[in-house]
Amino acid sequence: MYDVYKIRKDFPVFDNNKTIYLDNAATTYKPQVVIDAVTNYLSKETANSGRGDYQNAYLVDKRVDETRALIHKFINSKHVQEVVFTQGTTASLNMVAKCYGEKFLKEGDEILLSIAEHASNTLPWMQVAKKTGAKIVYMPLSEDGKVTPEIVEKYMTEHTKVVSVLHVSNVLGHVHGIKQIAKIVHDNCAIIVLDGAQSVPHMKVDVQDLDVDFLAFSGHKMLAPTGIGVLYGKKELLEKMDPYQTGGGMNFSYDKEGNYELFKVPLKFEAGTLNIEAIYGLHAAIEYINKIGIENISKHEHKLRTYAVSKLKEMDHIILYNENAETGIITFNVKNVFAQDVATYFNSKNIAVRSGEHCAKLLKEHLREVATVRASLYLYTTKEEIDAFVEAARTAENYLDAYF
Ligand code: ALA
Repeated sequence: MYDVYKIRKDFPVFDNNKTIYLDNAATTYKPQVVIDAVTNYLSKETANSGRGDYQNAYLVDKRVDETRALIHKFINSKHVQEVVFTQGTTASLNMVAKCYGEKFLKEGDEILLSIAEHASNTLPWMQVAKKTGAKIVYMPLSEDGKVTPEIVEKYMTEHTKVVSVLHVSNVLGHVHGIKQIAKIVHDNCAIIVLDGAQSVPHMKVDVQDLDVDFLAFSGHKMLAPTGIGVLYGKKELLEKMDPYQTGGGMNFSYDKEGNYELFKVPLKFEAGTLNIEAIYGLHAAIEYINKIGIENISKHEHKLRTYAVSKLKEMDHIILYNENAETGIITFNVKNVFAQDVATYFNSKNIAVRSGEHCAKLLKEHLREVATVRASLYLYTTKEEIDAFVEAARTAENYLDAYF
């Protein structure tokens, strides 16, 4: 039985801060086990990884390997070597764009993106397009705000070489039918890159079942510290790619003549010292999520968002943009009020929501609105918090009338 109040006891922030935190799509709170894991590294087990022959170095190497293996299981990759540590989703997507896109795309090729993509899945491809002469083709969304297999099929041409799409939009919160989309992409001899920033923390993501070529996600959106993320890539693709940065920890040898030999994947993509304390934290975070069960987390969020939406729908002054989304993301506006003013009003009620374009600056074409307000839930959100959120939404109209 899912006990949200018991879960909240694991998060020290709730003892110290009474804010109703509904900005989990931006980043998440950290449970004590994650804080302890980071502290353990910083206060007891400090050493670099992959370099030392002393006790702490062995412990660190073991934990880094265990974390990679845990992620490999968590996303069900075929090989543990398919898990590359990065600084986050942005770094992972940039890595694919630079190391795959710039190497394999050429003039006349097409990169297919949707207008819902986050900046981190748009700008790196713009750079690839500039450097290679490839062209970006933008897909519109379905009327209800989704990237659908039908749309992908319609926009793919014989020139499409890469399709890079989000699994769940950070604004609209729909879960896209990636398995079907991947099939269409592969039938067309292209590759599919999946932005999993908003899916991996909230639902079961199985890279073999979806058959995606790359998957990017961040630790900090799933209870771990900032500065750690993952790029999953099919081994044969990672092997064909060259790293975009080089340095220590990723080479066997080099000489003055300019000859060098790099380590195999994934290490060849991990130049320099890793964010080891964040890896410790990510390990604890995934173990914590596994203990609760990712499917239980999805159900909890969806149940609460369905409840919230049923209340918001009764309010004439609320414009909802994603009534039927399957995740815990609720995006709306208060009629005739600027989104940031709404967020400020929520803040006056001690409720944290995000407002603005949410880094998805092409999405206004679909929303016909530049800025929106977004509430995003997670495993520790309670019904009482949703009630307070709904009440703030209800009173936003009157308050703002009086204010302006
Ligand atoms: N991408 C994060 C968000 O949607 C920061 O808020």
